[in-house]
This record gives sequence, structure tokens and C-alpha cells, in this order.
Amino acid sequence: MAEAFKLGFVGAGNMAESIARGVAKSGVLPPASIRTSHRRSDRRDAFRSFGVEIVETNSQVVDRSDIIILSVKPQMVKSVLLELKPSFSEEKVLVSVAAGIKLKELQEWSGHRRVIRVMPNTPSAVGQAASVMCMAEMATKKDEERVSSLFGAIGKIWTADEKYFDAVTGLSGSGPAYIFLTIEALADGGVAAGLPRDLALGLASQTVLGAATMVTNTGKHPGQLKDAVTSPAGTTIAGVHELEKGAYRGTLINAVVAASKRSRELSQT
Ligand SMILES: NC(=O)c1ccc[n+]([C@@H]2O[C@H](COP(=O)([O-])OP(=O)(O)OC[C@H]3O[C@@H](n4cnc5c(N)ncnc54)[C@H](OP(=O)(O)O)[C@@H]3O)[C@@H](O)[C@H]2O)c1
Repeated sequence: MAEAFKLGFVGAGNMAESIARGVAKSGVLPPASIRTSHRRSDRRDAFRSFGVEIVETNSQVVDRSDIIILSVKPQMVKSVLLELKPSFSEEKVLVSVAAGIKLKELQEWSGHRRVIRVMPNTPSAVGQAASVMCMAEMATKKDEERVSSLFGAIGKIWTADEKYFDAVTGLSGSGPAYIFLTIEALADGGVAAGLPRDLALGLASQTVLGAATMVTNTGKHPGQLKDAVTSPAGTTIAGVHELEKGAYRGTLINAVVAASKRSRELSQT
């Protein structure tokens, strides 16, 4: 277990629940060290069910926590932070997961400088998030370690400069949707080739999982792994040839670039 500290969530929604469950389950913190509040009883019950302390208000969450994860929808961030402004004393760390909200804005609205921004993604719900964090100057090495341990409980986390966050959004933020589409299309291909639908879907998703695990576990370049499974005049190179004719790689590259561009546009408005 990491060095004990108190963790609070403002915005007890889906992302907060994924993080809180991961943190409690992995033993990074005992659930009694976590607190949140919510106006709806179903959300309070969801957190209470695994031992999280429920308090009355957002400001009580902040008062009783060392690290506060802000997990309301992006459009709520400004009003919630303006309301909580008086509660942020110097030793507290504010962590925002709100998509598109910059460190500078978080600092301005909260009046607090010890701020960290994290971009997780949907697979956080199954403990396989790809998260990236960036830190304001006032955040310390210890803050970084603590936040890494929290988000490490729901997947993997990297630290990067904030200037990369639109690209991160275009890749890991939007990426799960690209892969859902890919799995669906692979399964459709299986059905078109004569497989029953259930078998095709199971094979498609396990194949994506297995290939991703090979890239992660072997550390080999994906091109090298592809070369190793494409024998001369074989079946796989025939499939790869079709993908190249359909501009598969170029299309994925364009998708990431388009989503990054859209992220930049949205965060400017
Ligand atoms: N889900 C993801 O995969 C993902 C990935 C990356 C980043 N994020 C970020 O995570 C944040 C939360 O997303 P989510 O998917 O978890 O959304 P969500 O399930 O809607 O959670 C937000 C929660 O905040 C509550 N809330 C609204 N106003 C509040 C207030 N004034 N004080 C306290 N709580 C309030 C909402 O309650 P009501 O429902 O009653 O309004 C809701 O339970 C967003 O900023 C999003 O950009 C999410």
C-alpha cells in the first residue's frame, strides 16, 4: 500500500467510480480513506457499497481530502471550482479528469496552483485505462507519485507535457471507439466467411486483446510481429494486401489527426 493519504471525488459519476473501485480493489488505499458526495441516493449507494465514506457536500469532500479528483462533466468544472475556491488550502492537490480543461483554467477558477490534469479513457471501467497526466509547476514529485499510483490502479499512466493533450485525446481518448469498430468489422468478416456470429465476435475481440498483449509484453515493434506472421504467398499477407489497398493504416492515422484537431477546436471554444 502507498503512503497513506486521503482521497476525495467531486462528481461521483462513472469515471470516479472506476477510479475509486480500482484504488480500493488494488489496495492502493483502503476504501475508508476515500470520500465523495452526491445529490442522488443511487450514486451514494454505489460508492457506499464498497466502503467509501459519503459526506454531505463538495466542500466537505475537499476539506477532508489531501488529493481531490474533480470528475464532473467539463461544462460543470468552472462553476464547481468557483464554488470550492475557499476550500483549497496550499497542501491540497487538485486533480482534474475533465476532457479539454487546461491547467491554466483549473488554476484560475480554483484559485489554487497545485494542480494536475489527467486524461484517462473508457477502459478504466475494466482496469485497462491508458491515462496521461501533466502537472502545473507547483505540483511536486510526491504528488506525481501519488497520482500515478491512483491511476496505475485502473491501467497504465504516462506523464507528458500539456501541449500533447489534444493528440492524446485523438489517440487514447477516442481510440477505444476505433477499436470497437475494428472488432465489429472483423466479426462481420468472420460472418461473411461463414462463421456463426457469437464465435466470430469472440474470436475478433480475443484477437485484438492477444495482439495488443503481444506488443506490450514482447516490446517488439508491431511491424516486426506482423512480418513474423506473414509467410510467403500465405493467407495473412493476402489479408494484409487487402487492408493496404483499402488504406487501412492511412485511415487510422487520419482518424487520430482529425480527432486531435477536433479536440483543439473544442478546447478553444
Ligand atoms: N468516462 C470516461 O471514459 C472518461 C474518459 C476521460 C475523461 N472523462 C472525464 O471524466 C469526467 C466525468 O465523466 P463521467 O463519464 O464519469 O460522467 P458522469 O458519469 O456524468 O459523472 C459526472 C457526475 O458528476 C455529478 N455532478 C453534476 N454536477 C455536480 C456538482 N455540482 N457537484 C458534484 N457532482 C456533480 C453528476 O451527477 P448527475 O448525473 O446527477 O448530474 C454525475 O454523477 C468528465 O469531465 C469527462 O470529460 C471521462
